[in-house]
This record gives sequence, C-alpha cells and structure tokens, in this order.
Amino acid sequence: MLARVSPPRRLRGSPRLPGDKSISHRALILNAIAEGRATLSGLSRGADVLSTASCLGALGVVIEEGAITGVGLDGLQPPTQALDCGNSGTTMRLLAGLLAGQRFSSELIGDESLSRRPMDRVLEPLRLMGARLSRDPLRVGGGEGLQGIEFRMPVASAQVKSALLLAGLYARGETAVRGGEGTRNHTELMLQKMGATVTTTPSRVAVLGGQPLRALDVDVPGDLSAAAFWLVAAAIHPDAVIELRAVGTNPTRSGLLPMLSQLGARIQIMPRPAAGVEPVADLVADSGLGDEPLRVGPQQTAGLIDELPALAVLAACLPGVSLVTGASELKVKESDRLAAMARGLAAMGAAVEELPDGWRIQGGRPLHGARVDSLGDHRIAMALAIAALVAEGNTEIEQAECVEISYPGFWSDLEGVCC
Ligand code: S3P
Repeated sequence: MLARVSPPRRLRGSPRLPGDKSISHRALILNAIAEGRATLSGLSRGADVLSTASCLGALGVVIEEGAITGVGLDGLQPPTQALDCGNSGTTMRLLAGLLAGQRFSSELIGDESLSRRPMDRVLEPLRLMGARLSRDPLRVGGGEGLQGIEFRMPVASAQVKSALLLAGLYARGETAVRGGEGTRNHTELMLQKMGATVTTTPSRVAVLGGQPLRALDVDVPGDLSAAAFWLVAAAIHPDAVIELRAVGTNPTRSGLLPMLSQLGARIQIMPRPAAGVEPVADLVADSGLGDEPLRVGPQQTAGLIDELPALAVLAACLPGVSLVTGASELKVKESDRLAAMARGLAAMGAAVEELPDGWRIQGGRPLHGARVDSLGDHRIAMALAIAALVAEGNTEIEQAECVEISYPGFWSDLEGVCC
C-alpha cells in the first residue's frame, strides 16, 4: 500500500494510542505460565502481539478477548507445528528463553526481516545454561534441564535480558543478567508483582528458578513509542495541539520526554494516580522548538532506542548540526534504520550523513515531498509520515501497511488530526 501525506494547516486532536507493545508481549507470556486467570485490558492489537498470542495458543494456552488462563510453569503443551513469530523480534527472543526450559522441543520461524536478525545474542547464553538448541531451522528445548548462570550481555538488550529471566524461571538456582543498564524493565517489574523472587540493581537483575507465578491482571498503558510520532509532529508543526491519554511513562522507556523538553518542545505531563505496575500520564503537546541541535550519545540510546527514527525527523527541523551516536543497534532492527532514515530524509531534502553508529544531520533545510520507502518497517513508515507533515508538497510512502505491526490505526489517526 502507498500512503499519501500532504502538509495540513493545523494538527489537532487526540489519537487513540495502541497498547504498549513491550508490556503486551510480557502480559501474555508471563500470564501464560502463571497459575490462574488474568484479565488483560488495553492489550496491543498490533501484528507483533498477535504473533505472541498465536504462538502461546499453539502451546496450549487459552487466550480469550480480554483474558488469559495460565497453565502454570510446567503446563505448556508441545506444539504440533513450527511457531510463527512473524515480524516480531520480541516474540522470537522471549519465546526462545521460555521454550529453552521445556521438556519438549519447539521450532521458531519468522518472516524475511526476522530471519535476518541476530539471534546468537540469546542462543549463546541459553546454551551456557545447558539448553538444547539447533539452528536453521531454530529449535529450542527438550534438554536435561537448565542451570542458572551469571551472564554479562555484550549488547544492552531488554529482549535478551527478558529471555534469560524467562529461562531462569526453569533453571536450578539463580540466573543473573548484567550489562542491561538503562534497558526497559517491564519483565522484572511484572515478575515481582507475580510473586517471583527477582533482585534488581541498576547493573544486575536476577531471578530464582522453580517458583510458581501468580496470575496478574494488567491494564496496558498507551505505547510511548507510538506517542513519540505525535509528540515530534506537534513540536515541528507550526500550529499543533495534540493530546495523548494514559501513556506509559516508565523511566526506562521515556528518555524521549526530557530530551524533547530540553530541545524546547512544549509538552505538559500530567501523571495519573498509580493503578498498575507501570506509571501512566496524560500528555499534551503544543507547537514549538528551541534553537539548539539534538545530541544523543551512547548513554541515552537504550532509553529511547525505538524513538530514534522520530528524533531524526526532529533533528532535520532543528537549526545547527545534530548528532546521534551509540545507536549501531538500529542497523539490526526490523530494517537497517540508520540507512532507511538517512535515505528517506535525504529524498525529502534533508542533509543527513549516516555514521556507523548514528547520524549527523544538518538541520533547518526546508523539506519537500518525495516518494520514499519504509522498507516494510513500521517505525520508518511513521517517522517519514511525520516528516511529510512539514514538507512542501505531497509525500508517498511505500509499504505503508507495515504500521499494522505496532499501530494498526495509525493512518486513520493521522487523517483525523490533520485539519
Ligand atoms: C524491546 C526491546 C528493544 C526494542 C524493541 C522491543 C522489548 O529491543 O527495540 O522494539 O520489548 O524488549 P532490544 O532488546 O533488542 O534493544
């Protein structure tokens, strides 16, 4: 599908955000192996979370609209066919951890993009725990039982950390993960609420194996990574007011908010009273930006990794030379996001230099409409759509249907806010 976007005079409205994708995956996976029934509200309806739900269904877990019934740590059933993770790295990596501890073996497959993504970062530590694994096709599980390890991740990754904590639930003794400073902590927060013994320091997370989990009702907040596109759109458009309700503001996810404020964006943050495991706030974003360029370094990337494509658009609209470094992980996301944004923004008139681990962007050049390729990557499609809101003329975005991965209503929400 080709999406056509032209610059509106005003941006107004209150887009309905999808449920947080990361929290939705975890609410399903952890409740699947808990004891009892949990109600889930606000779950993402994006294709990635549907992939997780259908894999869990194939493992014998009953998932209904708004509820899931856990089978306990030892109740998963051997699947009768390969588990299809679609486009979802979180599904494949977290399920690899979960399935490594099962007495049966399972095959995990994915689409072309997922098949290209690095899996050794999960498989190597699982092997150290004693997991039985083979590649091409990827098979996990069916071994003699796992042993807890103390593991330092070479790449800070919440997916790897979560996979090892899931495997750790099935391991003898304690499983500890280091090197995840700044990565999202939804798994450990949820595990603690479900009664698991999880110890955390900023540099180490550990779980004790063999303990049952209690089912946990989850009200999934709005996805800050989806909100990011509206926050940037409001900041760069000359006449915008956008309201976003019940957005998850977990500090390990919301590095974007202080960054935008520092750049002069006008965002009101109104925290809601604590209801669940995760902090939630209503946000109102108005037009406006300062005149300093963007600086993102290695210390900040974990806390805004999925927001960097939107920030590249912002940088193109700020004066001066913006610099993003320490973001080489973007090369191995659903697409090579460093290349995809550099190409897309350059086609629209921006001066972007792709670096090995980021971008150097000379901002302030007027953007113009162009035909650009999302490469089938949902975050690239949405970031380029936001750039198109301030470009002169029409922009056409190829493979625009990929927004279904995380934000199925994106194109109609976009139409709704353009006046
Ligand atoms: C995710 C972690 C991040 C993020 C991805 C979702 C998660 O990936 O980019 O969209 O839910 O754990 P990494 O763990 O590879 O950094």
